[in-house]
Amino acid sequence: CGIVGFVGQGNPKEILLAGLSRLEYRGYDSAGIALYAHPFTVVKAVGKLEELKKKVEASKEFELPYSMGIGHTRWATHGKASEKNAHPHLSMHKEVVLVHNGIIENFAEIKNFLQEKGYSFYSDTDTEVAVNLMEYYYRKEKDILKALFSVQKELKGSFAFAIMFLEDANTLYAMRKDSPLIVGKGKNAFYLASDVSAFLDYTKKIYPVENREILSLSEKEIHIYNQNGEEVKRSSTIAELSQSQIHKGDYLHFMEKEIFEQPKVVKDTLLYACKQENGKQLENGKPEEYATPGAKQFSSARKDPENAENPDFSYEAFSMAEKDFQDISRVRVIACGSAYHAGWVLKSVCESLARVPVQVELASEFRYNHPILENGELVLSISQSGETADTLAAVKEAKKLGAKTLSIVNVKGSAIAKESDFVFYTQAGPEIAVATTKAYSCQLVAGYIFSLLLAKAKGKISREEASNLTEELFLLPGKVQQCLSMDQEILPMAKELKDADNIFFLGRGLDWAISMEGALKLKEISYIHCESYSSGELKHGTISLIEKDSPVIGLLSQEELAGKSISNIHEVRSRGAKCFAIKTEDIAIEEEDFAGSLSVAKTHPLFAGSLLVLPLQFLAYRVSLLKGFDPDKPRNLAKSVTVE
Ligand code: G6P
Repeated sequence: CGIVGFVGQGNPKEILLAGLSRLEYRGYDSAGIALYAHPFTVVKAVGKLEELKKKVEASKEFELPYSMGIGHTRWATHGKASEKNAHPHLSMHKEVVLVHNGIIENFAEIKNFLQEKGYSFYSDTDTEVAVNLMEYYYRKEKDILKALFSVQKELKGSFAFAIMFLEDANTLYAMRKDSPLIVGKGKNAFYLASDVSAFLDYTKKIYPVENREILSLSEKEIHIYNQNGEEVKRSSTIAELSQSQIHKGDYLHFMEKEIFEQPKVVKDTLLYACKQENGKQLENGKPEEYATPGAKQFSSARKDPENAENPDFSYEAFSMAEKDFQDISRVRVIACGSAYHAGWVLKSVCESLARVPVQVELASEFRYNHPILENGELVLSISQSGETADTLAAVKEAKKLGAKTLSIVNVKGSAIAKESDFVFYTQAGPEIAVATTKAYSCQLVAGYIFSLLLAKAKGKISREEASNLTEELFLLPGKVQQCLSMDQEILPMAKELKDADNIFFLGRGLDWAISMEGALKLKEISYIHCESYSSGELKHGTISLIEKDSPVIGLLSQEELAGKSISNIHEVRSRGAKCFAIKTEDIAIEEEDFAGSLSVAKTHPLFAGSLLVLPLQFLAYRVSLLKGFDPDKPRNLAKSVTVE
C-alpha cells in the first residue's frame, strides 16, 4: 500500500491525487483521500486510482479550500477490496482519521479490548482497530502526542500512519515502524509519503523518518520524537532521485522504459562494485556513494585496454572484508518472486566458480522449515524493494539463529538493508512497473560479482581467470544494448503465443533458472498459465500435458547441455508441441524444427542469463499489450508486499 499526506499552503486535493498516482505501483485495489474539515471530508473508491479521481471531480465538496489531507492506495490484506475496507479509516466518534501501510498483528486482541470499551467496527481491516485505539487514548489522555506514544507501545506488527485529529486543524501526525515513510519540505508546506517519488514534483528536500519515530508537521514546523518521547533534531537532505527517473517520458509504459534502461543499470551496478580510489564508498560500514571513480576506470579500460588499469571488484561493495568472504562455508539465499529466481542463477554461478554450496529457499518458507544453519553459513537475502515482509522476517530469523546476513537490495536504507550485517546496493534506480525487469538484471550482476569475489577469496580461481571474467562482465552492458532490438523481433512469436492457454518453458542448468523468470514474467502480465520445467524432468511427468500445438519455449545457452536440451525438445515436438527457441548465437539448431527462434550475443556461459532474459521480458510485454492488458499494473499484484 502507499500513503501520502500534505499540510500547508497549496492544493491538498491535487497534491494528494498526484502523489497517489506515483504510488499506485504499491497497490491498486482501491484508493481514498481525507481532507481536513469539520467533519472530515472522506472519499473512497474501489478499483484503480482513476475511479477515485472521477468521484473527486464529481463532488462539489472538493472545491472548498483545504489546508491538509491524507491519501492511500491499497493492496487488500484484511478484508476484500471494497469501499468500506478502503482507507482512510475514521474512528467511531469521527475524531481521528488515518491511512496505514503495514499490518497490525495483534489487532484481534485490541479489537476485543475496544469492544469491551464500547467501540464498534464497520470494516474488516486491522487499520480500523488502530484508529479507534488512537481515539480511545486521545479521549483518555487529552493530549495527542501522549495518545500516540501509548498507541505505539501497544501495536505489534508494521505500520506507517498519516493521521489527522479533528481537534488540531493545523497539524498532520505520523508514525512508523518497519514500513517506509519519508517527509518532504516545501515552501510553507510539508509532504509525507511511503516513498519520495510521491512528492518529487514539488520538492527534493527530504527528512528520512527512522523506525519508531512519531512526527508532527504543520505549515512551517516539523517535530520528530523518538520512542522515548524525546524530540530529535534532524536536518533535511536532498533526494537523490531525479524527476526523469519517475516519469515515463516518451515510453508507453514503465515496463518498456525499464527494459530499455537495462544497459545503463547493468553498467552502473558493475561500476558500483569497483574498487574505490578515495575509499568514499564506505560510510557506517555500508556503501553510500555511487562508484564514480570506478566509472573512470571503466571508460579508460574500454578506450585503451592495453594501458588502462583493469577494473577490479571490491569486497567493500558488499560492505565486507576479504576475511568475511573467506569465512563463508555455505550460502543460503532467501528471497521471493523474481528475486528468488535470481537466487537460482547465483547458485549456479557461485557453485561453479567458488565451489561453495548454495541453497536457495523461498523467504516465506524459511522460518517454517526448521532452518538449520551451519557455522560459517551466510544468509543472503535478495530484494528489490528491501521491504518484502516475508524476506524481512526470514532475515530477522537468520540473525536470531546467529547467522551473518548479507542483503542485495535496490532501495537504500530500506528495512532489509538496515536489518542485515552487510549490504550490496543494486543500481537499478526506482522500478515502478510491478513486474520487475531491470532490478532482476541488476540482481543477476550482483550475484556474478559476489560469486567472483568469493571464488577469489577462497583461492578457487587464478588471477587471470578472474580478470577474464571481469572483462567479460564489462562487455555485458553493450551486449544487453544489442538485445534491445528484440522488442520488434519478438513480435511474430508474441502473436503466435498470445492465444495459448498454457505455455511450457524448458531449460537445463542455468537455462532452467532463467526459464523460471521467463515463465513468471509472461504469466504475471498476460494471465496465460506458464510453467518452467527442467528439460530433463519433463519426461518424468509433465510431458503428459503436451498435445498438438502445445507451445514450448526452449532456452539454449549452455553449450555443454544444449545437445541434451535439444533432445528433450524433440521429445515434445514428436508429441505435437509447437517449439520456439531463445538461445545464444553460438548454439546451432535445425531451424525447421522450430516455429520461431531468436538469438542473443555470445558471452561467458555463466552470464548468458543476462542476455536471454531480454527477449523473455519483451515477449511478456508484447503479449500483454496484444491482449489489451496494462503491463505496468497486472491484476491482484503489488510491487512490494509488506505483509506475510
Ligand atoms: C512481489 C512482486 C514481485 C517481486 C516480489 C519480491 O510479489 O510482485 O514482482 O519479485 O514481491 O519483491 P522484492 O522487492 O523483495 O524483490
